[in-house]
Amino acid sequence: MLNTQASLSKTRKQIESIAITNNIALSEDDSAVIIIDQTKIPNALEYKKISDLESAYEAIKKLEVRGAPAIGIFAGYTMYVLALKNRDLSYEDFYQAFESDKEYLNSSRPTAVNLSWALNRMEKVVTDNKEKGVEEILSLLKEEALKIHNEDIEMCLKICEYGLSLLKDGDGVLTHCNAGPLATSYGTAQGPFLLAKARGMNIKVFADETRPLLQGARLTSFELSRAGVDVTLICDNMASIVMKNGWINACFVGCDRIAANGDVANKIGTSGVAILAKHYGIPVYSLGPTSTIDMNCPDGDHIKIELRDPDEIKEMWYERPMAPKEVKCYNPSFDVTDHELLSGIVTEKGIVYPPFDINLKKLFDEDH
Ligand code: MRU
Repeated sequence: MLNTQASLSKTRKQIESIAITNNIALSEDDSAVIIIDQTKIPNALEYKKISDLESAYEAIKKLEVRGAPAIGIFAGYTMYVLALKNRDLSYEDFYQAFESDKEYLNSSRPTAVNLSWALNRMEKVVTDNKEKGVEEILSLLKEEALKIHNEDIEMCLKICEYGLSLLKDGDGVLTHCNAGPLATSYGTAQGPFLLAKARGMNIKVFADETRPLLQGARLTSFELSRAGVDVTLICDNMASIVMKNGWINACFVGCDRIAANGDVANKIGTSGVAILAKHYGIPVYSLGPTSTIDMNCPDGDHIKIELRDPDEIKEMWYERPMAPKEVKCYNPSFDVTDHELLSGIVTEKGIVYPPFDINLKKLFDEDH
């Protein structure tokens, strides 16, 4: 049976047997959040302790911690660690400091909704429990941060199962960016490949390198190859040829914000993959937790797209520049894939099919 607690714990063990799943945790004494520094992969697997606001802001901004759900989990723990420093303040001063830390952290990256979603959940704990006093609020904040993390684990496990139900042994799947356990807790768009491997299935994954920041090359090919998955790294401009060769049965991509009409913001280049897939008649699925669906956002035109430092394109990868210093550069981090190009959106509550505006709404209405 899919998604009973017993079957989820089996799914969890299967993924843990081949993948690194401890990418974010609270330190034992609650003084810091421990992350895997994703900027160091694949050259080193280094853990880093984050205990102050500025380092937390920088960790998100510089992509030491990245991937929409991972940013949300990190934000939850960070707000608790920062709040502990203010335990001697009156409720009013405690709340004011909390608000100011929250606003600053929220300004680190704009596109993934999971950041503000997690921060708002933490804030609600503070405002809903005013009468309980700061000490009690601190334990409730810790509880909420752990809950956000544990919920994400459960959502990922369900998404892995639903995603895998779309594949059969021997399929070829193209994926873009990184949406494995580093970016989430147990993987969304790339979790089904790990689960397939753990169950003895052979899925042939083609991973776009994902320009400009190479999350596909640095992170996805690292996570999948060390788990023994059959993964082939390609440059983004090779997606068309592998589709034309008949090697791709489906495309699995993640999401940073899904609008109410089903438009999906994901790593820059995702919309190009979907446009190509339509040409070749290949289904495209976006996989992500419902925490990534923003029902207050009507469509993709309302999603703020992060623009990043042009030097990420011009100079970041070698000691010498890769482009003339004075050349103009446009470096958006995400793009929006039109909902009409998607075959389905895979969430922990099941696979949502078109018409997305109606069916996404149903997904949330069922909760009430
Ligand atoms: O800029 P990043 O690396 O944070 O972008 C990540 C992506 O676009 C992922 O595909 C998305 O967050 C989904 S991760 C589950």
